[in-house]
Amino acid sequence: MTIQRIAYSAFVAFLASLLTLVSVSALSSSDRDESADDDLDPITLEALAEHDGAESCWKAIHGRVYDITDYLPNHPTAEEVILEWCGRDATEGWDNKRPGVPHSPRAESRLESYLVGRLAEKDGQSARRDDTAEKPGEAVADTARALSPAEDERLHRAMLGLPLDGRYRGVFGDGGEMQVSVQFDLRDGRLSSISFRHLAYRGVDYLVLEEDDAFYPVRVQYAQIAERLEGEPMTRIFALYEPERIVDDVDSFSGATLRGNKVISAIRNGLNRGVYSWP
Ligand code: HEM
Repeated sequence: MTIQRIAYSAFVAFLASLLTLVSVSALSSSDRDESADDDLDPITLEALAEHDGAESCWKAIHGRVYDITDYLPNHPTAEEVILEWCGRDATEGWDNKRPGVPHSPRAESRLESYLVGRLAEKDGQSARRDDTAEKPGEAVADTARALSPAEDERLHRAMLGLPLDGRYRGVFGDGGEMQVSVQFDLRDGRLSSISFRHLAYRGVDYLVLEEDDAFYPVRVQYAQIAERLEGEPMTRIFALYEPERIVDDVDSFSGATLRGNKVISAIRNGLNRGVYSWP
């Protein structure tokens, strides 16, 4: 009896979710009645381009314009991913959250709550989906023409020789031995997520040492360096030239000075190599 009741409620729940899915996909931008959009405020590409950052982020998707500023912190990726598309036609990003994978109907219905207008027609051409359908070769030409604000910023910083936001990996080696390999993130000029991928000296691998090992304090000292640089501006690495400002006294600072210099070298090596990945 109870089992029958459970089976019945499961069936009802299944039907309900099926109905929700059907109604949500009925809202799908590709199926909607586009003549209804005539009532929406027309927004030109120029006006759209004014909202190209985190303070105000508008996106055109399938001919409609959305103000998604309030949604930015809730998007399930690093902000950079979604910020890149502010202030322009973001249909391509929307339809390819991963290559060839569009957003879900759930995301689509959320999007509708941020609607502010429709993309204005230009020179008698409609900006709607059908009229903007990609012709072969056009997508390539488009990306070559317009850099997104985030790409533009990256290019500028790279040309000025300024470090870019991103994940870095750098190494310090001497005497034929790789001694330090460090990974860190840089965001707005601040260090974070610093970790050592390799730490060794004269054949001793510090990363596998147990607490009772004579060299264990050295490993602790490296950990302190990483911990105390966390969240600091990148220039703080130069404090490592005077490590007593950063690490506890393990061996009267002489060893710390050497280690501090190795970490500085490894971090600078990472910066010279350039961004390893965009986390
Ligand atoms: C146009 C630029 C955008 C890009 C490049 C982008 C990219 C992504 C990526 C990479 C994911 C995670 C991967 C995955 O779920 O498989 C994701 C998920 C998601 N995004 Fe976006 N996104 C964009 C815009 C938006 C906007 C404007 C909204 C809503 C207002 C949104 C809502 C969501 C939601 C709800 C998810 C969870 C998965 C889903 O329901 O599809 N995204 N997006």
